[in-house]
Amino acid sequence: MKQTAKANVNIALIKYWGKKNVEWNLPLTSSISLTLDKFYTKTTVEYKKELIEDHLYIDDKFIVGSELERVASFMNLIRTIYDIPYFAQITSYNHVPKKAGIASSSSAFAALALAATSAYGINLDKKELSTLARIGSGSAARSIYGGFVIWHEGHNHETSYAEPFGEFEDVAILVCMVDKNEKHIDSRTAMKRLNENKDLLDQWILHTNNAIESMKESFNESDFDKLGTLAESHALLMHWTMHQTGVDYLNKLSFEVIELTENLRKKGIPVYATMDAGPNVKIITKKEYIKEVLPLYEQLTQVTVCYAGEGAILL
Ligand code: PMV
Repeated sequence: MKQTAKANVNIALIKYWGKKNVEWNLPLTSSISLTLDKFYTKTTVEYKKELIEDHLYIDDKFIVGSELERVASFMNLIRTIYDIPYFAQITSYNHVPKKAGIASSSSAFAALALAATSAYGINLDKKELSTLARIGSGSAARSIYGGFVIWHEGHNHETSYAEPFGEFEDVAILVCMVDKNEKHIDSRTAMKRLNENKDLLDQWILHTNNAIESMKESFNESDFDKLGTLAESHALLMHWTMHQTGVDYLNKLSFEVIELTENLRKKGIPVYATMDAGPNVKIITKKEYIKEVLPLYEQLTQVTVCYAGEGAILL
């Protein structure tokens, strides 16, 4: 009754922001992402008859409080759905800074969904695993798969799942670590604010649905510049939308990285910026340009060069 799973983080090109159903974690819109190869979570779940509650260790630290509650309520759901009578010891290692907008919850809940089900001998297919991981954290639905992934918004638990999206050769992501510290407001809390502003919410849904369609076209046409332009403008739209609800994640250094990106583009180099719920900036480019641009980004921040990574696996 013990299993270890590994899942990589993913970075959204068309973002998920806001829910239409909180209980089932159904998003307002579909989203599109790339699973990376360098940042991941490894989680071991061991069901133990003698435990009277779940025990959680993250990076060798015994966890209590709201973080444990979130994991325990996800485990409760798994116990209810699959009729598992035991509590578990959960041991997790993050090879990614937690809560700094490097989407650590995407890898964390994808690894946990896989480890928690297979530790009890339950073999879910990827679609089922994706719907399950989604309840832990929306973006985790996408980390079940490697490469480019689309998460269909769906209209209920069964129809809101991710699946592979398409191919794009030689795409690279430079993760610029602007700030490793935990963010001041988590995405769950921040997202709720969007639901308080109907006009803003309607605009966001409209633009995101259009961006999804355009992103599909960029894949069909193998048009990298269209992909990058869409990803950057959608990320900026998300941060503008967040700002309207009083949430700001980007800092001065984030804007310096974005400015460098704009300047490089003026020189004809295809680099595009995307940012999530934190100040860190991820640069979308192609393999062949890394040598040229890496030293420039490294003058501003620590940079990790990432490529497309694989989906969640058992170890
Ligand atoms: O999965 P969550 O609840 O941490 O939300 C992730 C939200 C963004 O990272 C900002 C966007 C996305 O699609 O990953």
